[in-house]
Amino acid sequence: MRIDIISVIPDMMEGFINESILARAQKKGLVEIHLHNLRDYTLDKWRRVDDYPYGGSAGMIIQCEPIDRCISALKAERDYDEVIYTSPDGEQFDQHVANDLSLKGNIIILCGHYKGIDQRVREHLITREISIGDYVLTGGELAAAVMTDAIVRLIPGSISDEQSALSDCFQDDMLAAPIYTRPSEYKGWKVPDVLLSGNEAKIRKWEFDRAMERTKKIRPDLLK
Ligand code: ADE
Repeated sequence: MRIDIISVIPDMMEGFINESILARAQKKGLVEIHLHNLRDYTLDKWRRVDDYPYGGSAGMIIQCEPIDRCISALKAERDYDEVIYTSPDGEQFDQHVANDLSLKGNIIILCGHYKGIDQRVREHLITREISIGDYVLTGGELAAAVMTDAIVRLIPGSISDEQSALSDCFQDDMLAAPIYTRPSEYKGWKVPDVLLSGNEAKIRKWEFDRAMERTKKIRPDLLK
């Protein structure tokens, strides 16, 4: 898989994509993540990529040209399955969307900034608009980082125990069951007996019941 992230502040993501699971997945050849500075694609001699909105409202808007030139340059090299725009008014990002995107070959993520991007880019170049939640961030970089992290950890081999991605919270539209490690008793706080019983079927049922309990209490909306 290949993820190309386009941003006006790519440096913000440089450290993030080269650490931990993302770094390991890239080293293993499971994914390539490339950052692109939108300013490299403007023809403006001051490297400006934004301009005032028609109609006189407040804020600055990213122009069509640098975005089009950047996306066209990428598309000239390879095909892309999705060209995603991060925006608070997009489709809600969740584990289903992460699963779906983790199965794609190549994707572009365009980070919004300022007031947003020219609507014509959304109509002609973007295939999917995604929000990471009902709040407004300063730019789409954090959204792109969140999405990239959630997607890459789902690629088989990127986390050491594949099973652990499958048992993630939300993977079955449920919160995860509680987890414990050694020692079996600490300061009188005990690990539930069933987990020490060695009875696989009983343990799986206990985990399911606890997960269901938590989901009903904290996120009943997931069960609808
Ligand atoms: N850009 C600004 N806010 C955002 C959000 N909530 N999700 C995705 N991109 C954004």
